[in-house]
Amino acid sequence: MDTVPIPFRFDADAWSVDERGFSAARSNAERLQFCLNYAVLAPSCFNTQPWFFRLTGAALELFADRTRRLPVADPDGRALVLACGAALFNLRCALRYFGLQPKVTLLPWLKEGDPLSGSEVPLARVELDGEAACPASERVLFQAIRRRRTYLGAFDPAPISQSLVDAMQEQARHEAAWLGILEDREAKAEVSRIVAEADRVQLTQRKFRMELARWCQRGAKLAPAMTPGALQLGPHGEFVMPFGAFLDPALAGDELADPVESTPLIGVLGADGDTPLDWLRSGQALQRTVLWARAAGVWASFLNPPIARPESRIQVAHLLDRNYPMLLVRFGRIPPPAPSRALRAARYVVGH
Ligand SMILES: Cc1cc2nc3c(=O)[nH]c(=O)nc-3n(C[C@H](O)[C@H](O)[C@H](O)COP(=O)(O)O)c2cc1C
Repeated sequence: MDTVPIPFRFDADAWSVDERGFSAARSNAERLQFCLNYAVLAPSCFNTQPWFFRLTGAALELFADRTRRLPVADPDGRALVLACGAALFNLRCALRYFGLQPKVTLLPWLKEGDPLSGSEVPLARVELDGEAACPASERVLFQAIRRRRTYLGAFDPAPISQSLVDAMQEQARHEAAWLGILEDREAKAEVSRIVAEADRVQLTQRKFRMELARWCQRGAKLAPAMTPGALQLGPHGEFVMPFGAFLDPALAGDELADPVESTPLIGVLGADGDTPLDWLRSGQALQRTVLWARAAGVWASFLNPPIARPESRIQVAHLLDRNYPMLLVRFGRIPPPAPSRALRAARYVVGH
């Protein structure tokens, strides 16, 4: 079979992809390849971007790039597959936006429940299956892909409306996952405690700190300094949340003394099982939910340590009375970066 690996390197301008670059007249392979520009804008644990794509004839296969795995921070590879699922959702969303109907097969070579470890099988195979107009609700998701960023600062404490929460939960269900909500003060205090403990345990592990240092060094070699639009990222875009923030709030700045309790809404993305297939679905659900929120002006950031640590994960499950939480997500609006100037409206400054 005709297999063309796609060169994949860091590109500081990835966010400036322009939809006018899409041409309906191109071949299926070329149109799939163009939509990869959107796939790579997905979030990933420690910005590892652990995906790899291969064009096989007219199909595109998604693989986990295991050289970018962080076995201490993410011992099961769950976060890695979640990130790949998020990239897959972006790809699907872009294809739909451009009027193409994707046919997606998840884990085409594995039986349900088979482990992924060490396997070089694709996580998904995407083919094109005709054309279809894109509904307005999905166009909105596509437009949010380029506007989404992980936001680490303090959120505006104003609550998120119930109708938006309902819609976000609906987005998760669409991808066979669920979004649990924790917003009352007691639940948030408990999550805050769980997060702090998971962070503390992780940070006190030497092998975790070594892994992180190695990854950051590697990132520093691969990636140029981030563009001004990415101010929330660390200097190399690799390590976003100062992990010590929970131990030493000064590291996170005054505003974010407690990143959980100060957040209006803590979401917990989860699934009904804990197989690689559930992880892939959850990753797609995660991205779909976060994009929906972003389209409605709500930003998100993620907390993986309480899921990576089994004892904490069980505590999160108990809080919600649901099994298989996959990721904690902070949701909130952000205060405007600077007050806008008071201006006279155009009608007051025009003469006749
Ligand atoms: C599965 C997963 C787990 C993540 N875990 C964390 C986390 O624990 N702490 C954090 O600050 N960010 C976390 N992130 C967010 C990444 O740090 C962020 O996506 C990455 O740095 C790229 O930045 P961007 O989302 O703004 O493009 C996670 C993202 C994913 C997909």
